[in-house]
Amino acid sequence: MAERKIQDIVMIGAGNMASHLGLALHRQKFNVVQVCNRTPDRGIRLATKIGAEFISDPRKITPHADIYILAVSDAAIEDVGMQLHLQNQLVVHTSGTIGMEILADVSGNTGVFYPLQTFSGRKRIGFQRIPLCIEANSTRSATLLVEMATRLSGNVHLINSENRKMLHLSAVFASNFTNFMHVIAEELLDDQKISFDLLRPLIRQTVQNTRMDHLFHYQTGPAVRGDSQVLDQHRALLTSYPAYLELYNMISENIIKYKSLHGKL
Ligand SMILES: NC(=O)c1ccc[n+]([C@@H]2O[C@H](COP(=O)([O-])OP(=O)(O)OC[C@H]3O[C@@H](n4cnc5c(N)ncnc54)[C@H](OP(=O)(O)O)[C@@H]3O)[C@@H](O)[C@H]2O)c1
Repeated sequence: MAERKIQDIVMIGAGNMASHLGLALHRQKFNVVQVCNRTPDRGIRLATKIGAEFISDPRKITPHADIYILAVSDAAIEDVGMQLHLQNQLVVHTSGTIGMEILADVSGNTGVFYPLQTFSGRKRIGFQRIPLCIEANSTRSATLLVEMATRLSGNVHLINSENRKMLHLSAVFASNFTNFMHVIAEELLDDQKISFDLLRPLIRQTVQNTRMDHLFHYQTGPAVRGDSQVLDQHRALLTSYPAYLELYNMISENIIKYKSLHGKL
C-alpha cells in the first residue's frame, strides 16, 4: 500500500511565517486542520482565512495530523514543542538558525521546513520560487517533507543545519541589513522633506545587479573610488546622526579593505 503523504496540517503560531505559510498551504489544497496560537486574535484571524479550527491551548491539539509546523519565535520553539505532548508524529520548525536537534525531545520524527524569504505584513507572497530548505531526522520524513515542499515551490533543497545557519546569516546581510539601510536613507530624506521615490530607480538597479556574479564589480560610491573629499563631506552631513556616522565609517572602511584585498575590475 502506498504511504500516506502529508495532507492534514496543524499550524502552531499565527505570526508572519505561520500566516504566509498557512495561506500558501491552504491555496495548494492542503488541509490545515488547526491553528494553535497563544494570543487568540491573530490565531482566529488566520484560522478563519484558511478554514481551520482555532485553539489556544496546545493540549487540545489533534494527535491525528500528518505534520505539526512550529512557526513560533526561535526562543519559544522548544517550550511550545514540549507542550504539544506528541510522540512520533512529524514535527518541524521553520527557523533559519535553530538546529533540528532542538526538537529531539518533542517527537521521534523531526525536521526543519525553512522558507528562505522575508515575510512581513499582509502582502501576498507567492511561494513558487521561494527556496524551501528541508532537513529531517529520517529518510522517510525527508521524502514526505520534500513532497509537501514540491507542491508549494519549484525550488526545494535538502540542507543540513550547519549550511542552513550560514544561509540564514547571509540572508541577514542580503535582506535584513539592506532593508535597514533603506530605513536610514528614508529617515535622512524625510528630515529634509525630500521624497524617497527619487531613490527607487537606484534601488531597483542595485537589486538587478545581483543577478550577476562577482558582485563587488558592481560596487560604486566614494569608498570604492577612494574619494576622501566626498567621504569627508558625507561625514560632516552625518554629525547630527552619530549612530549612522559610525555605520557609515564602518561600512566604508570595509569596502576600502575589501578592495585592497581582492581588487576590483
Ligand atoms: N518572518 C520571516 O521573514 C521569517 C523567515 C524565515 C524564517 N522565519 C522563522 O519563522 C518562525 C516564526 O517567525 P515569525 O517571523 O513568524 O515571528 P512573529 O511574526 O514574531 O510571530 C511569532 C509567533 O510565535 C508565537 N510566540 C512567541 N513567543 C511565544 C511563546 N513564548 N509561547 C507561545 N507562542 C509564542 C507568537 O504568538 P503570539 O501571537 O501569541 O505572540 C507568534 O505566533 C521563527 O522561527 C523565524 O526564525 C521567519
